[in-house]
Amino acid sequence: MKILFLGDIVGRDGRNIVFEYLEKLRLENNIDLTIVNGENSAHGKGISYKIYEQFIEHGVDVITMGNHTYSKKDIVDHLTLMPKMIQPYNHILQYHQGYLLLNCQGLEVCVTNILGSAFMHDNAMSAFKAMDEVLSKTKSDIYFVDLHAETTAEKLLFANYYKELGGAIVGTHTHVQTADERILGNLAYISDVGMCGVYDSIIGRDVDEMIDNIVYGNKTHYTIAKGPAILNGVIIEIDEKDKKAVSIQRISLKPY
Ligand code: FE2
Repeated sequence: MKILFLGDIVGRDGRNIVFEYLEKLRLENNIDLTIVNGENSAHGKGISYKIYEQFIEHGVDVITMGNHTYSKKDIVDHLTLMPKMIQPYNHILQYHQGYLLLNCQGLEVCVTNILGSAFMHDNAMSAFKAMDEVLSKTKSDIYFVDLHAETTAEKLLFANYYKELGGAIVGTHTHVQTADERILGNLAYISDVGMCGVYDSIIGRDVDEMIDNIVYGNKTHYTIAKGPAILNGVIIEIDEKDKKAVSIQRISLKPY
């Protein structure tokens, strides 16, 4: 089984590069399951129902989220129409499902989304307690966890603690791809997959605006950068017989 996961998709240019390459990536790599993180897809914060539909039309199987899940307020009214989206299981707002069970290549796959604790204010419980709850409610063959968290140490600790699970634990949220992908026990692991968004930016936001705000202390709007985008993701291969990860390969398509 081959799983394609794309990291935090930021704004219009991030969405467009995903729509441009998704089909090609799936076909060239014989992908069975496509998962994307959509928590920044609507102007950097949250997702809209329209964008959700676009992801589904482009063949996405599951959309994971993060601390910005409910940044677009009207999304709550559309959740019943968004069965392929999951919210972080331990998000402080409990409006939607925190995991999704799928059948893929004859195996049950549990896809879940969990918020880390360090520098994260929207988590209702620790990542470990959340994962333990998911495991107590499921008996899946394979687990795929999008661990949406700020620090590499917390993500590494989490992955080591759960390394006997078959599947993958992939980090999101920092928007910068790390080069530490590896097989850890029965898992495929990477501390952060990186974003799909404008390359010349501060993790997707406009550079000049950030200088104005952070360096000069001026009040600014939340402006998403415009320009050529980078696409970051991973391809994970699972041995269906052993129900273990066998490889993880980084993808990073830079515009120049
Ligand atoms: Fe985030």
